[in-house]
Amino acid sequence: MTQPSNGAALRLSGISKHYGYIKALDAVDFHVHPGEVVALLGDNGAGKSTLLKVMSGAHEASSGEIAVNGKTVHRYDPRIASELGVEMVYQDLALVDTLDISTNLQLGKEPLLPFPLNLLGLVDFRKMHQITETQLERLGVRTAPAERPVEMLSGGQRQVTAISRAAVRLFERGKGTILMDEPTAALGYEQTQMVQGLIRRMAEDGFAIVLVTHNLPLCFAVSDRIVVLNRGRKVADVPRGEADHSRVVAWITGAERAIA
Ligand SMILES: Nc1ncnc2c1ncn2[C@@H]1O[C@H](COP(=O)(O)OP(=O)(O)OP(=O)(O)O)[C@@H](O)[C@H]1O
Ligand SMILES: [Mg+2]
Repeated sequence: MTQPSNGAALRLSGISKHYGYIKALDAVDFHVHPGEVVALLGDNGAGKSTLLKVMSGAHEASSGEIAVNGKTVHRYDPRIASELGVEMVYQDLALVDTLDISTNLQLGKEPLLPFPLNLLGLVDFRKMHQITETQLERLGVRTAPAERPVEMLSGGQRQVTAISRAAVRLFERGKGTILMDEPTAALGYEQTQMVQGLIRRMAEDGFAIVLVTHNLPLCFAVSDRIVVLNRGRKVADVPRGEADHSRVVAWITGAERAIA
């Protein structure tokens, strides 16, 4: 689904990024629309994570411009990005190990017990678990029980929890962009299917999604458009329908390019 890039939820223009003498990104243009899943592909070191970090405000581009919902942003960092509805799924860094799944999901907006206990800041854990179960059900996510501490979860369950947290934050706003860096790298079959369903459902709800992955079946199963980086340059940007496995591999390896 290619649309004019002026309706983009997130648009980057001419983004370059140097790490010392390494040029990680070279004049990259990128956009994603509401309701669209863009798969960002490329070999190791191609610049995918760097581009995602620029999108999330974690790293500042050396040059280029970022616009969120059509407005150019002059100051940008992860907090500003989040305020503008751009959420990055950090693998497990953003989860608090000692807290349970529902507290991690509701962090900062825990429901309090009724008056007067709310004055003491006492959390209504039963209500919080209920809210979380409802949200996870809406997301189609089945993971460990909501009251289980995150430190007791498997790598895959943590990953699903981290994605759910970003999703829950955006569901509250009703729109936004979600950035994922290899969300299924540590997942088994069933949880990869679950994340795949989650991504599609979020896109159908109107969220813009950028998915970095080495998993080509996942890319073909969920994306609307495929963007390929090779050594920091964009070499392809095509609707999924115009790409097939062998062309994508040729773009990734640098054997061919779809962009002059
Ligand atoms: N913090 C950093 N300091 C210096 N160089 C970096 C830094 N982060 C990335 N690079 C370099 O920038 C280039 C792009 O790296 P990046 O992590 O974006 O690649 P990637 O496409 O995400 O690769 P992978 O598939 O292996 O995750 C690489 O040459 C890498 O060595
Ligand atoms: Mg990476």
